Amino acid sequence: MTDTNSGGLVVFDHPLIRHKMTRLRDVGTDYRQFRSTLAQIAGLMVYEVTRSFETETFAVTTPVAETAGYRLRGSVTVVPVLRAGLGMIDGMLEVMPEARVGHVGLARNEETLEPTTYLSKLPRDLDAGPVVLVDPMLATGGSASAAVNLLREAGATDLRMICLVASPEGVARMRKDHPDVRIYAAVLDERLDDRGYIVPGLGDAGDRMYGTT
Ligand code: PRP
Ligand code: URA
Repeated sequence: MTDTNSGGLVVFDHPLIRHKMTRLRDVGTDYRQFRSTLAQIAGLMVYEVTRSFETETFAVTTPVAETAGYRLRGSVTVVPVLRAGLGMIDGMLEVMPEARVGHVGLARNEETLEPTTYLSKLPRDLDAGPVVLVDPMLATGGSASAAVNLLREAGATDLRMICLVASPEGVARMRKDHPDVRIYAAVLDERLDDRGYIVPGLGDAGDRMYGTT
């Protein structure tokens, strides 16, 4: 794990994640394999992303004695950015079934690279606990920045983002627009190409996941 804390970026440096990321990058991986691998990586990342969640103590009785127990404080909300973010949710909920799920729909215009919002369906009390924004690709950072703006307008105060592939440009954009939002990325890639795709990246995550290439 590389915690480039000064930039609020945590990059996973784990053999299993590297192994699975390579499968996602491979152009020969079909959408079934892509979907299941994406969910597996997201599940593996949950432990680190949730490390800063607060707990509260309460008394629990074991078959032998009473002792201190712990539970998460408040309500956790995960918010996938449609479409591609959806692919990470099952893996995350497997480890964290108590989380609520809000949805944000954003589409990046292929020419301008600007995101357009087409859906926002969020719990009313987003300030009731930590909120995790979920999107596998952080490219120009336009979509992530717009999604965080939406979440803040809806009341979120305790935010972090989980993605698979981040670009230096996307990280810089998020640092500028939302310096308080820590980013957890499976990998940090080299750069964007002139169409706004991450290099080497894995292509269009939504298309690869749903077989719409
Ligand atoms: C992808 C991806 C992000 C966005 C990243 O979604 O899932 O939301 O692009 O790009 P950015 O950082 O430059 O904004 P896309 O708009 O392709 O929609 P899709 O998931 O429906 O394919
Ligand atoms: N969106 C994707 O799905 N892939 C990229 O490389 C950039 C934006």
